[in-house]
Amino acid sequence: MVLFLIWGISVSRLAKDGVSVVVPTFNEGPNIAELVRRLDAMRVEAAIGEIEVIFVDDSTDDTPAVIARVAAGTTLPVRVLHRDDPRGGLGGAVVEGMRMAQFDWCLVMDGDLQHPPEIIPTLVERAAAGDVEVVIASRYVDGGDAGGLANRVRTGVSRASTALTRAMFPRKLYGCTDPMTGFFLVDRASIDLDGLQPRGFKILLEILARRQQRIAEVPFEFAERHAGESKASFAQGIRFLVQLTMLRFGRMSAFAIVGGLGALANLAIMAGLTALGLEYLWAAIIASEVTIIGNFLLLEYVVFRDLRDSSGRMRSRFVKSFTFNNAEAIVRIPLIWLLVEGAGWGSVFSAAVTLVLAFVVRFVFHALIVYRPVTDGRPSPMRAKTGSAVSGAKLRDELEGDVL
Ligand code: GDD
Ligand code: MN
Repeated sequence: MVLFLIWGISVSRLAKDGVSVVVPTFNEGPNIAELVRRLDAMRVEAAIGEIEVIFVDDSTDDTPAVIARVAAGTTLPVRVLHRDDPRGGLGGAVVEGMRMAQFDWCLVMDGDLQHPPEIIPTLVERAAAGDVEVVIASRYVDGGDAGGLANRVRTGVSRASTALTRAMFPRKLYGCTDPMTGFFLVDRASIDLDGLQPRGFKILLEILARRQQRIAEVPFEFAERHAGESKASFAQGIRFLVQLTMLRFGRMSAFAIVGGLGALANLAIMAGLTALGLEYLWAAIIASEVTIIGNFLLLEYVVFRDLRDSSGRMRSRFVKSFTFNNAEAIVRIPLIWLLVEGAGWGSVFSAAVTLVLAFVVRFVFHALIVYRPVTDGRPSPMRAKTGSAVSGAKLRDELEGDVL
């Protein structure tokens, strides 16, 4: 009886507060009406109190118009934010939605009906117990099912990345079997929204890894998509790996991954060109130029993405980065020559040694100079000083693994 009373009180607290349903959408037009219909039916049936629905949309098609039409035809309060600058992708959209939310408890779900709205009351009930900040709908807890994953490859990738992620955050993900799910209920008040660095799909991981949260799980069956196609891609996979590394070890390791990928590409191109009969020095030059440009793009869009706005124009960053890397190559190529001709090492091996040597210098140069905060796109002497002090401190924090 007492238990029942306590439970009743906390349910009413939550029910009074209500829940903001946040749905990131990218070209999901054909799913909107059905999703809103099922959300509405769920609300009526479960009597879980106030609900609002917020679509945060980055579509390139008519999805916003579809949402507006559906919103006009339902009693459910539906809002849509269409972003012209889809920063942070799916994760960025979720954070924007949470900012707009009327209630602290935010239910995040996909817009393609792979996340059945009918289990929302179970999540809400679990949250109402009042002892957790996050309730996760898990595919991997007893009673859950990942059946809706498109194919075996995706199931394998999902399982392997889940295991890797849990191994990397044994404490923060304790009790969480599905850190990659996009279906969860979270108390916004327990998150530092400004401290999140959403990049792509894994927003729950970002939330859980930044701050210790109390977690509960509820099983669910991951359904087939109602309509349309998955937006998951190989690029999302790479973004996830970088996110994982950044969360765990800081920016330097993400930089290392990008550098490592660049080095591999460099060596592969060089091996390919020499195999085609090109002289090894020419091969090294071409391989370097191609990877310098590729690396810069990865730094811009992945590793230093969050510093782009504060560090002036992309063109000026490119000039700095390109100049530095070419200067580095100018030093590196004679060094390769020395190692090959002088020490008798193999050409590809020599190139590898010089690439490793160049890594640390390159990281420091990029973190402190290329992505240094500026005003008006131009470094001012005063700001430049504080700027590098700021990045210096940031860099130190990250080197000390203090980012969490
Ligand atoms: N606003 C916005 N911006 N929404 C996006 C973007 C984007 O760049 N990319 C995808 N979405 C939306 C989709 O429209 C959909 O509503 C939801 O995010 C999930 O995208 P899907 O394309 O359906 O992804 P999925 O089914 O392959 O992946 C889902 O399952 C994964 C677990 O296997 C997502 O829930 C992932 O978060 C989850 O990790
Ligand atoms: Mn989906």
